[in-house]
Amino acid sequence: MKLTVIGCGYLGATHAACMAELGHDVLGVDVNPDKVARLSSGEVPFFEPGLGDILRRNISAGGLSFTTEADAAAAHGSVHFIGVGTPQRARGHAADTSYVESAVDALVPHLRGDHLIVGKSTVPVGTAASLARRISTLTAPDATVDLAWNPEFLREGYAVEDTLRPDRLVIGTDPDSDARAARAVLRDVYREIIDTGLPVIETDWSTAELVKVSANAFLATKISFINAISELCEIVGADVSTLADAIGHDKRIGRRFLNAGLGFGGGCLPKDIRAFEARAEELGAHGALRFLREVDTINMRRRSAMVELIAQVCPRELLGANIAVLGAAFKPESDDVRDSPALSVAGQLALRGASVTVFDPKANANSQRMYPMLGYADSAAEAAQDADVVAIATEWAQFVHMAPSELDPVVRSRVIVDGRRCLDPQSWRRAGWSYAALGGAVATPENAFDADQRASAGLGRGSFEGATQVAH
Ligand code: UDX
Repeated sequence: MKLTVIGCGYLGATHAACMAELGHDVLGVDVNPDKVARLSSGEVPFFEPGLGDILRRNISAGGLSFTTEADAAAAHGSVHFIGVGTPQRARGHAADTSYVESAVDALVPHLRGDHLIVGKSTVPVGTAASLARRISTLTAPDATVDLAWNPEFLREGYAVEDTLRPDRLVIGTDPDSDARAARAVLRDVYREIIDTGLPVIETDWSTAELVKVSANAFLATKISFINAISELCEIVGADVSTLADAIGHDKRIGRRFLNAGLGFGGGCLPKDIRAFEARAEELGAHGALRFLREVDTINMRRRSAMVELIAQVCPRELLGANIAVLGAAFKPESDDVRDSPALSVAGQLALRGASVTVFDPKANANSQRMYPMLGYADSAAEAAQDADVVAIATEWAQFVHMAPSELDPVVRSRVIVDGRRCLDPQSWRRAGWSYAALGGAVATPENAFDADQRASAGLGRGSFEGATQVAH
């Protein structure tokens, strides 16, 4: 089939390459000539494992190309995916859908014959209905243009896998018309993956739009739930990681997305929960999603808790201390620093007068653009040179598997703060390091600590066994 994908950012570029991988003839369209030039030459403008290979393979095979011309999209095919961004508005929390509207405005007047526009962007509920009205006013007399909503659930770092092997397919169509034709077209587009037994949920526009934001709200809530529990764990000396394992064995709960620590960031979860709550209020569902504000508050509190923990264990005042922050991306296997908890911590430390050096295996360049005032290093050991505290802010595998001996010769104090609860505390302690985890104790036989003892010792949030035994 001949498809177009409008918007070649994270979502669109991945979708275009993956649709070509399924055997379709795909034209990607983006207004940014630099992005189009890079993609056309087989270069992915961001870090995403596996995407470069399928991009180059399909360009070479002739099934994938890119353009800046919207009228070329109209001429190329009859199914047009829209994957442009819906960022948070500059004022308030609502989502800005103007890029979606611009994409429709640029495309629809050029269409002739029968076409299907398929929205993939994450949008406030009601967007499809208002876009359909916009489309009908722009449609030429000799054209019919249908609209479907087909949300995307891909995670950064697993974008190819999630697009080619999704958990489900959601197809939302006009509730007031016979949408059999639109559904049949989308089933044909995805035939190869549907035939693997993929669940397909056919529904109306509003439900499809809500599925996406509800899924993200649920995931964010799960993370903030465990982080809220971790605040209590910190006070009583309980181990939130063991607790997550234990409750996660309950199949109704599940263990995934229960990793306590620095919390969620990135281009989706934070903005999506804010926009979702704002939309509920706009629609008159007053208070229905107010809990999402608390989810957001808990999440943001983890960042300042990390800064406080670092200040607490630092052998000197933060003002003038050297802090190595390992990790800048909002999560591993990504170079994305949008709303990154790691960079927020680094920035707060710098504001408190610390001299901060950041190292991230993939996100140094993006971080440098956003936070030029921080120091940057080309390795963990370089970042940790003369450090008073080493802080793990993103759980890249190379940090998880790092041996204390890699940092021993360079640091000023052997103090490590594990913001993602991803290290083995025993191995660091055995090597003479003071180890602190955000979210409280990590249970090991030697640090089992009685809650009453903690209280009488005046240890509360963020305190940790060994905090005062700073090695030099
Ligand atoms: C998310 C959704 O997972 C995806 O379905 C949607 O399409 C886009 O938004 P993404 O932003 O790529 O994907 O990242 P995700 O893997 O969901 O992680 C989001 C954030 O939560 C990261 O900062 C991660 O570090 C954090 N996280 C995740 C936790 O703090 N704890 C966890 O247990 C899981």
